[in-house]
Amino acid sequence: MTSLTIRQPDDWHLHLRDGAMLGAVLPHSAWAARAIIMPNLVPPVVTLADARAYRDRIMASLPAGQAFEPLMTLYLTEATDPDDVQAAAASGLVKAVKLYPAGATTNSQSGVRVIDNVMPVLERMAAIGLPLCVHGEVTDASVDIFDREAVFIERVLEPLTRRLPDLRVIMEHVTTADGVQFVEEAGIGGTITVHHLIINRNHILAGGIRPHYYCLPVAKREMHRLALRRAATSGKAGFFLGTDSAPHPDSAKETACGCAGCFTAPNTLSCLAHVFEEEGALDRLEAFASLNGPAYYGLEPNEAQVTLVKRDQPVSFPTHIDAGDETVTVFDPGFPLHWEVQT
Ligand code: NCD
Ligand code: ZN
Repeated sequence: MTSLTIRQPDDWHLHLRDGAMLGAVLPHSAWAARAIIMPNLVPPVVTLADARAYRDRIMASLPAGQAFEPLMTLYLTEATDPDDVQAAAASGLVKAVKLYPAGATTNSQSGVRVIDNVMPVLERMAAIGLPLCVHGEVTDASVDIFDREAVFIERVLEPLTRRLPDLRVIMEHVTTADGVQFVEEAGIGGTITVHHLIINRNHILAGGIRPHYYCLPVAKREMHRLALRRAATSGKAGFFLGTDSAPHPDSAKETACGCAGCFTAPNTLSCLAHVFEEEGALDRLEAFASLNGPAYYGLEPNEAQVTLVKRDQPVSFPTHIDAGDETVTVFDPGFPLHWEVQT
């Protein structure tokens, strides 16, 4: 197959940041019609008013001619008011609430320490059908970083889904076979990134430390990467694309204590087509990238279509983009890419 036409994809987990960075990265997500916009700004997007103001800044940064619908989220804190969440959902502007365990990842300091403290919000969300996006890692310092997702399932996610069976939960950026199995068994949603389909932990650590492959949850062993590939290419309704494209200035990545995040927006669809072709599953790319996500969120799939074309020669992508005075490194899959979005 050398050409593939599918409904236009969406991105169910995206970091756009703010200010100059927002302006620099937004055009690179033009392949997506819609995206769930992560609220982990400094300060975070906590209220409906914050979400409305952030949405306005995104729309003001949109290049002329780019159609893009930001699906806003609220950052759940222990002070979040259930009534504000309900009003946010009713406004139609906010499509989900994001749960960060406090300290789990970039800008998660204001997140949740004790899940019981947010139960009134979660109960309200279950009642009104507003989805909860979950960063699924424990922050317990005694738990090995490679085990934090599996332990989170056991300690937090499984009890939560049992306690609130009506809550629509999305386990974000699933990185383990345990996560894949839980998404299926619990009948919840699970997003998968492009980079976790491509790299395992050796890419980060073997033969030198590669900060641009460091993200959270951190990439795991090869067996987990293979489980993610099977899940993404299965066509099963629970699994859909959430890139977690997370730009950071190179100066903040290439340093003694580099921060977490891979910037995959520019080559997402090329990487994805490559992976699905390797798995003999190009016919299931549309389910993963364009159909399962909207279905889980109760939205219609996009009417517009995109065509991916396989070129004989490798397609080139920039190694970096400029963002204000900084540069941001684009994810390097480590192999030539031949699939290109036809424009
Ligand atoms: C994200 C970021 O930089 O905001 N980083 C990451 O490694 N994925 C936060 C997140 O989604 O965990
Ligand atoms: Zn993220």
